[in-house]
Amino acid sequence: MRFGHFDDARKEYVITTPKTPYPWINYLGSEQFFGLVSHQGGGYCFYRDAKMRRLTRYRYNNVPTDSGGRYFYINDGGDTWTPTFMPMKKELSFFECRHGLGYTQITGTRNNLRAEVLYFVPLGQTAEVHQVTLKNEGSTPKSVKLFSFIEFCLWNAHDDGTNFQRNFSTGEVEVVGSTIYHKTEYRERRDHFAFYHVNAKVSGFDTDRESFIGLYNGFGDPDVPSAGESKNTIASGWSPIASHGLDVTLAPGEEKKFVFVLGYVENPRAEKWEKPGIINKQRAQQLIAAFSSAEQVSAALGKLREHWQGLLSSFTLESGDEKLNRMVNIWNPYQCMVTFNMSRSASYFESGIGRGMGFRDSNQDLLGFVHLVPERARERIIDIASTQFADGSAYHQYQPLTKRGNNEVGSGFNDDPLWLILGVSAYIKETGDYGILDEQVPFDNDPNNAASLLEHLKRSFDHVEKNLGPHGLPLIGRADWNDCLNLNCFSEDPNESFQTTGNRTGRTAESVFIAGMFVHIGPEYARICEYKAQPAEAARARSEVAKMERAVLQHGWDGEWFLRAYDFFGNKVGSKDCPDGDSKILIEPQGYCVMAGIGVATGEAKKALDAVKERLDTPYGIVLNNPPYREYHVELGEISSYPPGYKENAGIFCHNNPWVMIAETMIGRGEQAFEYYKKIAPAYLEDISEIHRTEPYVYSQMIAGKDAPRQGEAKNSWLTGTGSWNFVAISQYLLGIRPEWDGLCVKPCIGKEVPEFTVTRKCRGATYRIHVKSTGGTGQVKLTVDGKPIDGVIVPFAKPGSTVHIECEAS
Ligand code: BGC
Ligand code: NOJ
Repeated sequence: MRFGHFDDARKEYVITTPKTPYPWINYLGSEQFFGLVSHQGGGYCFYRDAKMRRLTRYRYNNVPTDSGGRYFYINDGGDTWTPTFMPMKKELSFFECRHGLGYTQITGTRNNLRAEVLYFVPLGQTAEVHQVTLKNEGSTPKSVKLFSFIEFCLWNAHDDGTNFQRNFSTGEVEVVGSTIYHKTEYRERRDHFAFYHVNAKVSGFDTDRESFIGLYNGFGDPDVPSAGESKNTIASGWSPIASHGLDVTLAPGEEKKFVFVLGYVENPRAEKWEKPGIINKQRAQQLIAAFSSAEQVSAALGKLREHWQGLLSSFTLESGDEKLNRMVNIWNPYQCMVTFNMSRSASYFESGIGRGMGFRDSNQDLLGFVHLVPERARERIIDIASTQFADGSAYHQYQPLTKRGNNEVGSGFNDDPLWLILGVSAYIKETGDYGILDEQVPFDNDPNNAASLLEHLKRSFDHVEKNLGPHGLPLIGRADWNDCLNLNCFSEDPNESFQTTGNRTGRTAESVFIAGMFVHIGPEYARICEYKAQPAEAARARSEVAKMERAVLQHGWDGEWFLRAYDFFGNKVGSKDCPDGDSKILIEPQGYCVMAGIGVATGEAKKALDAVKERLDTPYGIVLNNPPYREYHVELGEISSYPPGYKENAGIFCHNNPWVMIAETMIGRGEQAFEYYKKIAPAYLEDISEIHRTEPYVYSQMIAGKDAPRQGEAKNSWLTGTGSWNFVAISQYLLGIRPEWDGLCVKPCIGKEVPEFTVTRKCRGATYRIHVKSTGGTGQVKLTVDGKPIDGVIVPFAKPGSTVHIECEAS
């Protein structure tokens, strides 16, 4: 069942009923100021850091769900309603939510009054604009009251939700004309404040929540809108809000627009006050002046559209498959940009107060946006590398505001260092900027201990090599990519973290997955060394990689598939020999080892992928492991803590499915790769939205697997490495176009189902028009470049400004 449809021309998803199976959200902002907005106006916003600088309050896991947002109440002759449906839930004769790239527009009509609310963050501004358009669609004049409503968060979202003994006494506001200023804690250590303004004369206002809503009421039955009269309250402690009351008269057919600006302002310490106790509002007034008319709003929206149009033009696909087109051209890159902005901090599943930026997550996210914003990718790489330790290990997470490593989580996730090499190599291939390797980058953010980025990569590489276990395979540490495979944790206490409680320090538990990563990523390091005229180091790296490959085939091969790991006691994890009730096969080494090319020439790769198909494939995607763990295993950790079929215990983890897709292309089975692709790509799931439940325009981290009662149900949409890896799989391996060291590789492997397509790819300033005829999915290609046939699959990089025409026959 569908709850809306794609509008590809406008690059929007159009939701046509408020009653979707879960709130379907969108993101506003891409620089400093961000907002989350659901299809019914729920959500919140923040400046840079969702924990430390939250402007508006949101209640996670509330009843009803999706509580808190930017709401507009209308009192039309005593009938009070909200055009976003929530929170009043009054019947609407028309409802539509259009989630676009960086903006959302929600329209509700009731009793011939059409109310459209447009939400966006203009480029270059630290503010949200909310434009309300009211239109009288009836034949008699209307005189209505409009009330805006937002609830301020007292800045630190964690404190705001926990420290009530203090918070209920700190709230402060100022009201001047049509602007409400929120200045809690501004009197002391904060140099920032927020404001909510409307470009019209107000008939009243409210800033005290209790007075506006009523102590025993909810957002759905607030006092002031129902009474039709603002109370002009000034908050003192408790919960400051901002509400404007507006009297609006509309002749039949008449339309009026109101522009609300929700802004964030920082003042230099010396310029905080206009006079004692009164905020210096100069900067706020500039922001207000920038959006005082509907024309300014429409110009800013136009700029935002152009911005996205520009970004997305670096990779565009024309094919006969509209679902594929919309994933590749619009929604997958859009999600990649959102993960770039948010990492794993704020979504409807991430509360914005938990995790900072992940070392491994950020490096992998980069793979999906490096072609969109290469300069920002460069900056990101330097930030990430600055949190690496001198021994090559890394802080697992760092805080976006301070860019410092997070001590609570610490280090010891032994896959982390290798992802840095992958991120850097993707960046150089995209840009040709080898100069980045010479940048001086600190270790652990200590400017007195810095080295070139190249040296950081060497330490990453060496960290694996220096931490090998009894079988010559990499030690896993706290966990590898699978955060829940905690082979040194042995946790019996529900109050401790599976990841950070390491009460075994032995050097025995080994990861076949990290071994696969080493074989896949090690050659990238070797190639970089060659470029830097270090042939001996390159040769050393290649020989270590070859050694690792042998170790995998000798100790990491289980007969029909790759083993997952050896545990603390040296027992196999993910083997046919594991007892019944335990998993016998896990997905990660199957995909990753084959991606690395292990066993491709000797047959193990094909066997492993056949085993994936037979044991892990389901109608909704490939599950992580099978059978699921039935009981908690203290020696395995969190993986065995989840009920069968969810999360890392046999859920469909959409992050590692693309590794299998890429692996399938490595052995020339493009058709199978595309089958897997379609099973989890959200646009293909639109018709089963009632089962899938999350947004049909973005990937979710996990879909419940075949062992779960709610098989096919997705959770944790938006902020997941799934976005970038699926983009890599489809664009670079199935459609087959990726920058390599010496040119653009064109090697489609998708099969007959996409018989003909054209990709326009911009890279290093040149444009490549690639027209493909695809008669089979074996990965065999013949290329003609500007009319001349060439050998191989690499089209040399062309001069900036030039256009290269490529004809490709893929069979
Ligand atoms: C989850 C993982 C997640 C980790 C992050 C675990 O509980 O299952 O998916 O990566 O927490 O800390
Ligand atoms: C989510 C985490 O963000 C990611 O780093 C991890 O690889 C997966 N979960 C799998 O556990």
